Amino acid sequence: MLLKLENVTKRFGGLVAVDRMNLEVEMGEAIGIVGPNGSGKTTLYNLISGVYMPDEGRIFFEGRNITNLPPHKRAPLGLARTFQIPRPFGSATVRENVAIGAMFGRANAGVDEAMNIADEYLRMVGIYDLRNKEAKFLTPLEKKLMELARALAMKPKLLLLDELLAGMNPQDIGKIIELIKKVKEEENIAVISMVEHLMHAITKFAERVVVMHQGKKLIEGPTLEVLNHPKVVEVYLGKKVV
Ligand SMILES: Nc1ncnc2c1ncn2[C@@H]1O[C@H](COP(=O)(O)OP(=O)(O)OP(=O)(O)O)[C@@H](O)[C@H]1O
Ligand SMILES: [Mg+2]
Repeated sequence: MLLKLENVTKRFGGLVAVDRMNLEVEMGEAIGIVGPNGSGKTTLYNLISGVYMPDEGRIFFEGRNITNLPPHKRAPLGLARTFQIPRPFGSATVRENVAIGAMFGRANAGVDEAMNIADEYLRMVGIYDLRNKEAKFLTPLEKKLMELARALAMKPKLLLLDELLAGMNPQDIGKIIELIKKVKEEENIAVISMVEHLMHAITKFAERVVVMHQGKKLIEGPTLEVLNHPKVVEVYLGKKVV
């Protein structure tokens, strides 16, 4: 078992944003988290990555209790995330930004090695030619690709993708999904991806889907089966999900 959440709860004042959530993730699995607005997806991500500590419950990574570890101590264990709004070091180059991932993640590399790892992943995501550009000059799509390369350079065992595909055109979405599938297979990385409004994308990518509703897990199971389940259609206001 790679990741395990046991009865994890997070409250904001009187509001229970994540309510006794249980989740198990195996090595190499691709999981999609979906749910209507306010259902607790982002909060769940923040709990897994260590931005928030749970009020109750426990989180294990490879059997180790990481419930109270801060994010910078989770990353070297093999837990990487992308941010919905990438915040690169604007005046550093693309290559340097990605190398930072290699230095602080599980790769735990020195500067020269980190630069080489950066080059490897910049090639993989297709922005190697931009490596010497200052990050602030990248387009939004290029920034997302750099963000993906940075996360991969950390050599994660678990990659959390936060709305990586939001705002992209269908062609780019297709490209990135293929890319993530390829890396996931090659490096046996488990991926949890949160996709709010791109259900079709999730059917192409996730083997299993977890649907959240009012902070709780409504249902989980094989992607298409779950997305077509009457309970799920109901929380999405009667609309067919896919
Ligand atoms: N820092 C915070 N302080 C107070 N309330 C919060 C905070 N973060 C989230 N919430 C509340 O917790 C609930 C879950 O929010 P969360 O952002 O996790 O949902 P979500 O599923 O990601 O929603 P969306 O689809 O809109 O992004 C919401 O009611 C939200 O208003
Ligand atoms: Mg959210």
